[in-house]
Amino acid sequence: MTYTSVAPSAARLTESLRDIGYDFPTAVADIVDNSVAAGATRVEIDIRFDGAGSWVSIADDGRGMTANGLMEALRYGSRREYGRNDLGRYGLGLKTASLSQCRSVTVVSRPQTATRTVTRVIDLDVVVEEDDWLIISPDIDDHVRRAREQVADSGGTVVLWRKLDRVLPEKRPEGGWARRRLEGLAERTVQHLGIVFHRFLEGATGEPLAITVNGVKVEPWNPFAPDEPACNVLPVQRFEITVGEASGWVTLRPYVLPSRDRFSSPAEFDRMSGPLNWNRQQGLYIYRAERLVQWGGWGGIRGIDEHTKLARASLEFDTDLDVVFNINVAKMRVTMPPQLRQMLERPINELCIRADDAYRRTSRTPANNAGNYEASLSEHFPSMPDRARSAVGVGVGAAGLALRSAAMQAGEYAAWKRIVEVIRIQAPDVAASLGLND
Ligand SMILES: Nc1ncnc2c1ncn2[C@@H]1O[C@H](COP(=O)(O)OP(=O)(O)O)[C@@H](O)[C@H]1O
Ligand SMILES: [Mg+2]
Repeated sequence: MTYTSVAPSAARLTESLRDIGYDFPTAVADIVDNSVAAGATRVEIDIRFDGAGSWVSIADDGRGMTANGLMEALRYGSRREYGRNDLGRYGLGLKTASLSQCRSVTVVSRPQTATRTVTRVIDLDVVVEEDDWLIISPDIDDHVRRAREQVADSGGTVVLWRKLDRVLPEKRPEGGWARRRLEGLAERTVQHLGIVFHRFLEGATGEPLAITVNGVKVEPWNPFAPDEPACNVLPVQRFEITVGEASGWVTLRPYVLPSRDRFSSPAEFDRMSGPLNWNRQQGLYIYRAERLVQWGGWGGIRGIDEHTKLARASLEFDTDLDVVFNINVAKMRVTMPPQLRQMLERPINELCIRADDAYRRTSRTPANNAGNYEASLSEHFPSMPDRARSAVGVGVGAAGLALRSAAMQAGEYAAWKRIVEVIRIQAPDVAASLGLND
């Protein structure tokens, strides 16, 4: 038997790895993951428009790297050991996230305990030209000088993106459109970082992390509105998962958020609606080692629904379940293990019943509700005395609600919705009196 080593083509592979699923905000977030993993408490991000010379810099005050450490960090598939709940995983993020947005990444780093600052560059144009995994020790220019100053006092690392070919338009990178695009990306980045790192920004994990983007502080956006007194915090549940070799615990924390009229202010209600708005922000918020990786929707357990829009729940797992959740490289997506989906069905349906209740209690006052049924009853049973009509109305309406809740509890909500559709078509009167038309 003989072996032949066939090394990959650096030119081809680096180009294709640019497209593994990052967008601008998620790429920045993956660089910030490294800062958090390096124990940083401050991360300063600059996204600066300068035509074709526009640049992005992400500077932290973390542990920093030695020359050897930085060399390894720039290897595709960095070789190193990972501690439990280390945000890193594949040894790719620094390279793939950076080069998904630009063609040249410069890393300037200084360990807290050393006096030497190292600077290295990966430039895709050089890698492609030489078809080799080359790392450059560059000459010092203004950008590098600025970065070196940033880590001069307390150590840390600066990641600098240049040649932003994926960000700027090929034609007229100096134009107004390019400028507005960069400004738009900066805004989306502020929003994205405020969501995915909210626990770190709040100091829920230790010393609070401070992130700025172009000098503006990133504020945490906590999907569970912890400062709202009317927020209904339901009991925490824990589930043990074992798949093959991997096993660990998953924690579910369900919440029913207050409806608009029970929020401390309409402005706060609107803020808590979130970037996708109430409907699509309902559902599971999945955290890996305190960092939010995926949110919105119920992970295949049920669909999103206007009536359950006040329901949100955190689902937390540790890195020992990475394999089970199948976290992707860009750390934007996990797969819900089928075993867990089954375990979550009941608590999630219960949460949604409560949320539905909270929604109905406020979206329509009881008087209105009764009025509706009465109106429909008087239309269909004109000879019935008023008092009897109103008694029947409330009773029948309650029956509709009870059926709906039972369907949810039985985990048959999708079937219930199909049944309602049929009733609406075949017996619209019955549907109206059961209150199935809201
Ligand atoms: N800001 C930083 N501070 C200190 N070390 C870093 C920093 N960024 C990257 N590194 C080092 O580079 C390695 C490779 O990073 P990366 O490519 O993102 O892969 P991963 O985070 O999955 O290990 C990290 O494991 C870490 O040792
Ligand atoms: Mg990383």
